[in-house]
Amino acid sequence: MNMSILARFALVLVLFICLRSSEGGGQTPPSWVSGGAAAAAAATKYQTITVDQSGGGNYTTIQSAIDAIPYDNMQWICVYVKTGIYNEQVKIPYDKPMIYLKGGGKRKTYVVWNGHNSIEADATFISEADNVVVKSITFINSYNYPLASNGHNPIMPAVAAKISGDKSAFYRCGFMGVQDTLWDDAGRHYFKLCSIRGAVDFIMGSGQSIYERSTISVIAGFLSPQPGFITAQSRDAASDLNGFVFKDCNVVGNGTTYLGRPWRGHARVLFHNSRLSNIVVPQGWLDGDFIGTTMKDLVFAEDECRGDGSDTSRRVWWKSKLSKEEIRRLTSMSYIDEEGWIKNQAFNMLS
Ligand SMILES: *[C@@H]1O[C@H](CO)[C@@H](O)[C@H](O)[C@H]1NC(C)=O
Ligand SMILES: *[C@@H]1O[C@H](CO)[C@@H](O)[C@H](O)[C@H]1NC(C)=O
Repeated sequence: MNMSILARFALVLVLFICLRSSEGGGQTPPSWVSGGAAAAAAATKYQTITVDQSGGGNYTTIQSAIDAIPYDNMQWICVYVKTGIYNEQVKIPYDKPMIYLKGGGKRKTYVVWNGHNSIEADATFISEADNVVVKSITFINSYNYPLASNGHNPIMPAVAAKISGDKSAFYRCGFMGVQDTLWDDAGRHYFKLCSIRGAVDFIMGSGQSIYERSTISVIAGFLSPQPGFITAQSRDAASDLNGFVFKDCNVVGNGTTYLGRPWRGHARVLFHNSRLSNIVVPQGWLDGDFIGTTMKDLVFAEDECRGDGSDTSRRVWWKSKLSKEEIRRLTSMSYIDEEGWIKNQAFNMLS
């Protein structure tokens, strides 16, 4: 990983940040509320182990439950995490696939950790295994979140979740932080009905992902007049399959923000049929002069968006114009799921 890019992002921002930002009158962004979407879990038989802080389950910490699952696990196993705030770092190692981590609700089960020394190792939630499903849990990196009105720590990467396994799906999850909140690192991922909050590069990495009906909640107000950045995608070559596709999403929040800037030279991001509030800066996207990118190699696109921030008449001239066919390809589930892994995963929420 080329960390120096992110380090430079941080440095540039730190220079701009006015330490005492006046806060107040913050809007609470609406989240998607949708009823009865839960599809019946596939008829798979699976074991459930329960985590309950107050001792009423099999384990009192999430990690001890994961530790108890055998290596090379080949059968779906549910780790049910009862309502509560769990102050721990949670890691699903690469050799423990087929874990279904289920909380009591996006606003009921929280995992909170404040790691910020190592971007690689300190995320609140680290998921390395293939075939992971997470539902109804919010992951918070509390290093700077929530932002204190009377000042904050230096802004630096503080990851709430780092997702590096293939075939991973997140339903009704929250990811809260300030910088680099969600490291959508590698593999094919599906996010549905999630809330992702941050200010700087807060959805970043080289995941091949669809974000559907999710709320992108920008808290860049404290950076004002400097804008924030929603995405820092890091596709490295034109032949790489990864990219971030936002479909039927809602971009809300405070301050102002770019939709994205590149982490690597072939960054690919598409906002499709989404509502963009007036916090989006008219230019929309920032080029990557500082990483020596050629603008024509970046794939930054918008299609059929609405809302006060969706006017593309003043967007950067090099913004991508994708063909209808390419947009259809990127926004259909087959972009991340040709063989049907989502449908075949127990506990999916496709309907
Ligand atoms: C979890 O606790 C339940 C209820 O006490 C028990 O029946 C079950 O065997 C336990 N499971 C494990 C894996 O310890
Ligand atoms: C931005 O929104 C967040 C979340 O609602 C809030 O905590 C913060 O105070 C707001 N900041 C400003 C400057 O309005």
